Amino acid sequence: MKNYILNVKDLTKNFGRLKALNNLTFSIKYGDFFGLIGPNGAGKSTLLKILYGIVIPDSGFVGIEGLNLKYDYKKIKYNLGIVPQDDNLDEDLSVYENLLIYSMYFGMPRKESMKKSAELLFFFDLEDKKYSKVADLSGGLRRRLMIARALINNPSLIILDEPTSGLDPEYRQNIWGRLKTLNEKGVTILMSTHYMEEAERLFKNMIILNHGNIVMSGAVNDITLNKKSLEEIFLDIAKN
Ligand SMILES: Nc1ncnc2c1ncn2[C@@H]1O[C@H](COP(=O)(O)OP(=O)(O)OP(=O)(O)O)[C@@H](O)[C@H]1O
Ligand SMILES: [Mg+2]
Repeated sequence: MKNYILNVKDLTKNFGRLKALNNLTFSIKYGDFFGLIGPNGAGKSTLLKILYGIVIPDSGFVGIEGLNLKYDYKKIKYNLGIVPQDDNLDEDLSVYENLLIYSMYFGMPRKESMKKSAELLFFFDLEDKKYSKVADLSGGLRRRLMIARALINNPSLIILDEPTSGLDPEYRQNIWGRLKTLNEKGVTILMSTHYMEEAERLFKNMIILNHGNIVMSGAVNDITLNKKSLEEIFLDIAKN
């Protein structure tokens, strides 16, 4: 399991009678750009929330960088970057303050977090918004800040839950470019999406979830090879 940054085995989560996740097993290699796709209610956010520690599974195993999530979450979180589906930026603070305050969560020294924040503002083209209040930002800029914030601790794995949903094509492509660059620099990415075009452009490997089950998995190229387009596969799955 050495080549894998993340291992999930027999992971199950029920909400009352609803089987939100049903015995999932999969692994993600270091350096992968790994996708999670599936229709509304498939279980994507539930799975990602388990991985970043805010939903407790009923049973199963999650290992991240050789550590057991159940016992070592505190250690794991230092190497994890998280972009949840729901925007949880601090409205009343500036862009810069949002980055600085988040860095305190990781106990980063002030000088280091100032340096890293400056780097991220540059990388995400947010420098001229440094002192703007988050409440005044457009949806696309907020999303870029969410991703910037998730990178403050130099994570080796970033987990993004539909980071481009609802954005116009220009903003979406803008985010794609940055995620690709990060991945090329060696950051492993796990990301969920509804957009098949996005999956085809970004993901190396992926799983397709439906009603809490993995209905398809593998390299994106293999899944689409000689078969229907990802769009058609997805529509077929969503019908069931
Ligand atoms: N806290 C909760 N309590 C009860 N049911 C829940 C809870 N969280 C999620 N669910 C249910 O679990 C199922 C999976 O939800 P989840 O949010 O993981 O889906 P998703 O794939 O992320 O969907 P979307 O694409 O709409 O974001 C849904 O039927 C949802 O209603
Ligand atoms: Mg979701």
